Amino acid sequence: MSDVLTISDTLTVEGGRPLSGEITVRGAKNLVSKAMVAALLGETPSELLNVPDIRDVEVVSGLLSIHGVGVEHDHEAGILRLDPSNVESAHVADIDAHAGSSRIPILFCGPLLHRLGEAFIPDLGGCRIGDRPIDYHLNILREFGAIVDKQPSGIALSAPRGLKGTVIDLPYPSVGATEQTLLTAVRAEGRTELRGAATEPEIMDLIAVLQKMGAIISVDTDRTIRIDGVDRLVGFRHRSLADRIEAASWASAALATGGDILVKGATQPEMMTFLNTFRKVGGAFDVLDDGIRFWHQGGDLTPIVLETGVHPGFMTDWQQPLVVALTQAEGLSIVHETVYENRFGFTEALRGMGANIQVYRDCLGGSSCRFGQRNFFHSAVISGRTPLTAADIEVPDLRGGFSHLIAALAADGTSNVRGIQLINRGYEHFMDKLEALGAAATLKA
Ligand code: EPU
Repeated sequence: MSDVLTISDTLTVEGGRPLSGEITVRGAKNLVSKAMVAALLGETPSELLNVPDIRDVEVVSGLLSIHGVGVEHDHEAGILRLDPSNVESAHVADIDAHAGSSRIPILFCGPLLHRLGEAFIPDLGGCRIGDRPIDYHLNILREFGAIVDKQPSGIALSAPRGLKGTVIDLPYPSVGATEQTLLTAVRAEGRTELRGAATEPEIMDLIAVLQKMGAIISVDTDRTIRIDGVDRLVGFRHRSLADRIEAASWASAALATGGDILVKGATQPEMMTFLNTFRKVGGAFDVLDDGIRFWHQGGDLTPIVLETGVHPGFMTDWQQPLVVALTQAEGLSIVHETVYENRFGFTEALRGMGANIQVYRDCLGGSSCRFGQRNFFHSAVISGRTPLTAADIEVPDLRGGFSHLIAALAADGTSNVRGIQLINRGYEHFMDKLEALGAAATLKA
């Protein structure tokens, strides 16, 4: 990887220059990592294409390796070859060491229970954006017949009588819980009905992967997914859909800095909701054969009222980068976050840079959500336009961190952004991309 960064990395950014030029996005982090887990279920090797060079792929590769899966990664071509012929149990200490800050290990449970009859997961990390519990996951695994044993070092699972199809009603259309069900149901005995499922494009692409492997899965318009378990699955060859979060992040960077960015590899269908919002704010875009060009048209940006939600709503991961652009709109914008209870922590640093953003416990903007009567600051009012000034900032999490980077690029003066290595989890070669877009950003060791 060209962006191997160490823990103390700080990026010095001279802001105030429009980002202009061309970059490429490859496969979606949130599909690639799950398709890699799906490879565990096959009897023959799998090949995944359009794989980005990001830390999360390294983490899952490491986890697969310690479970006996052969992993070959051609970084430049973006091809991963995964051979699950010799799946075996891993040592607890190794799992702990490899899992790092990832939440992916929870998705290993179903496939490992099918392959080995047992699984172990350490305490889970992931970005600090709310509690991010795993109760749905554990309840689902229990429904299939797994025995869940919570131990001081993690959770041990076993399935002495195998896993059986079941009916699952999700309390919320959780992406991870839907994936957990799919990855477990495809090889469970009999039929599984999942009600209230998430239907994000990354989930539909995972279903496509599983279908290539031999699974039988149908999706209804009412969020019901039915899976008929099969006895065996084979390897797949699949090209990941594009990373619509990365694409939207660069689009917001173009808007916030008054720039013009061609995001090659970005695709329209998965980004429709983002594109509508981008246009309402006053951004311009052009859908081309090989990507989407995003630019600031000059003049004032328009404030908006926005609510994040599950697909086909406005993704929670699109919210943070766009909020930076909204600080440059003339007037009041309202953003209601309904997916995570605690995803406005990043606004504190923006306030320090001159943004006028207030966060509220109430559901602002029209509808109420499950966080409404509780103590979570999950609505934000952004009053613009405010010039941003340089500051020293610490990256809080992946998407919040990218937003800080955008703010530093838009701000007057020189900012120091600390903990930049977190951004590597989901944005490949972002230093190279910043350079290609004309940013004045250098790494301090
Ligand atoms: N939830 C529970 N219990 C559970 C699981 C989820 O209460 O057992 C709650 C969460 O706390 C949250 C809501 O359900 O409030 C939705 O969480 P979901 O399960 O949908 O999220 P996830 O699967 O953990 C994935 C992405 C996130 C993305 C969300 C929503 C991956 C690896 N992560 O997380 O992406 O924000 O779906 O679309 O696919 C990112 O890429 O930076 C990122 C955080």
